[in-house]
Amino acid sequence: MRFENKGVIVTGATGGLGRETSFHFAAEGASVAVTDLDINLATRVADEIKEKGGRAHPFELDVTDARRTAEVMAAAAEVMGSLDIAFCNAGIREIMPAQELAVDEWRQVIEVNVTGVFITAQAIAKHLIAKGKAGAIVNTASALGVMAANSRCAYTTSKHAVVGMTKALAMDLAPHDIRVNAVGPGVIRTPLTERYFQNPEMHEKIKKIHAMGRAGHPPEIAKAVLYLASDEASFCTGTHLVVDGGWTAGKQM
Ligand SMILES: NC(=O)c1ccc[n+]([C@@H]2O[C@H](COP(=O)([O-])OP(=O)(O)OC[C@H]3O[C@@H](n4cnc5c(N)ncnc54)[C@H](O)[C@@H]3O)[C@@H](O)[C@H]2O)c1
Repeated sequence: MRFENKGVIVTGATGGLGRETSFHFAAEGASVAVTDLDINLATRVADEIKEKGGRAHPFELDVTDARRTAEVMAAAAEVMGSLDIAFCNAGIREIMPAQELAVDEWRQVIEVNVTGVFITAQAIAKHLIAKGKAGAIVNTASALGVMAANSRCAYTTSKHAVVGMTKALAMDLAPHDIRVNAVGPGVIRTPLTERYFQNPEMHEKIKKIHAMGRAGHPPEIAKAVLYLASDEASFCTGTHLVVDGGWTAGKQM
């Protein structure tokens, strides 16, 4: 049980990766603040964790709202008894050629994926520093944090920013014993990507872009997140752990 007596806040915790990772944290002893836009969905995930014998507390949270984020951090720390780890995971993406992308949609993707991660990371950093406690932050970047894909200009930009932000936060927070890392998933089957899997042609394409010939599964990302958040990664900070079945390793000739 790597997370006994630890409190973890997860954003986007009712989506595919956030939900799975919340279950994994709870199964290893953590108390989990399950946060997302919809309190009913967050409550359902927290209830499922509790039914399995875990500890979880639902919160309604829009990661672009800095004031609400500070409130939720304080309330989560209070109810869990300790708040040590943040999984800054909420994210959205567009599918639209750059030349047709509305500036408002660009702004929305950047606001959630970049500013939202910054707000969450800064809020837990302030909390940990005020308490004089060590901690860990894991941000969700992407394989598209190190390369681009067509029709995903804002998303690709936002994930490259998350990789850079992870390094910058690591620099500022290392003196406070707070490690900051990112996980970079390939294509993982979740509500975000489900439409790829509904289309047989697209499904084949998705398999082929990964050297391993398949998409990933949420537990394969959750395990990487738990590693980065745990003491096993005690000398890792500022890294981006790409977990992508070889998507970014190269192309077939
Ligand atoms: N699934 C993949 O293939 C994949 C690949 C690389 C990176 N990612 C990243 O992983 C993260 C999770 O993705 P997922 O696949 O679980 O997607 P998902 O759509 O299943 O879950 C995303 C969650 O984020 C929440 N969210 C959206 N805007 C929010 C906001 N303003 N405030 C709070 N919560 C908000 C949604 O309600 C949703 O529950 C995202 O950052 C995504 O970019 C996913």
